[in-house]
Amino acid sequence: MTTILGISGSLRKASLNSALLRAAAELMPDGATLDADGIAGIPLYDGDVEAAEGIPPAVAALKAKLRAADGLLLVTPEYNNSIPGPFKNAIDWMSRPPGEIKEHFGDKPVAVIGASGGYFGTTLAQAAWLPVLRTLGTRPWFGAKLMLPRAQTLLNAEEELADQATRERLAAFLAGFVAFAKG
Ligand code: FNR
Repeated sequence: MTTILGISGSLRKASLNSALLRAAAELMPDGATLDADGIAGIPLYDGDVEAAEGIPPAVAALKAKLRAADGLLLVTPEYNNSIPGPFKNAIDWMSRPPGEIKEHFGDKPVAVIGASGGYFGTTLAQAAWLPVLRTLGTRPWFGAKLMLPRAQTLLNAEEELADQATRERLAAFLAGFVAFAKG
């Protein structure tokens, strides 16, 4: 079984990106599962807190999942044409301490997708993740792109990703990424 850790970078209850992540969990190919998680409960990174108390429990839990996973799927919103602060903060925490980066992120297959309310569907936020993924030594997958512009128009009243063409694109994306992640 191939296990992918999926992280939505939005804290909002009605998040478009969390809806996208939930749909991804449903549309995984046979032989793979997606553990849909988020960034709730992660404090702002503070080196003094780290020195005094170590890694916060919510971060330690995500790190343990990441270490065990065959791949990582980042589901990113876009704020002001870049990575939202709360999501970057979560990954920054997960990169601590530096001596543990390699065992968590090193050579880890990573894919980035995202949904936005605007017309470009997180194009710039996805690009902004690239130097982060490089510096952490990950193995990004570039086999396909999935950006959902005007994503509010793709959900139904239950906040599910209902648009059939988008679901098919997502399923194809996941099949490609899983094939890459399982090597
Ligand atoms: C946005 N939004 C946004 N959308 C976009 O396509 N490009 C952008 O640069 C921005 N910038 C931006 C900045 C800030 C501070 C906020 C709060 C929002 C809109 C954004 O796509 C929309 O709020 C999404 O719904 C956010 O994702 P979630 O929370 O629904 O997953």
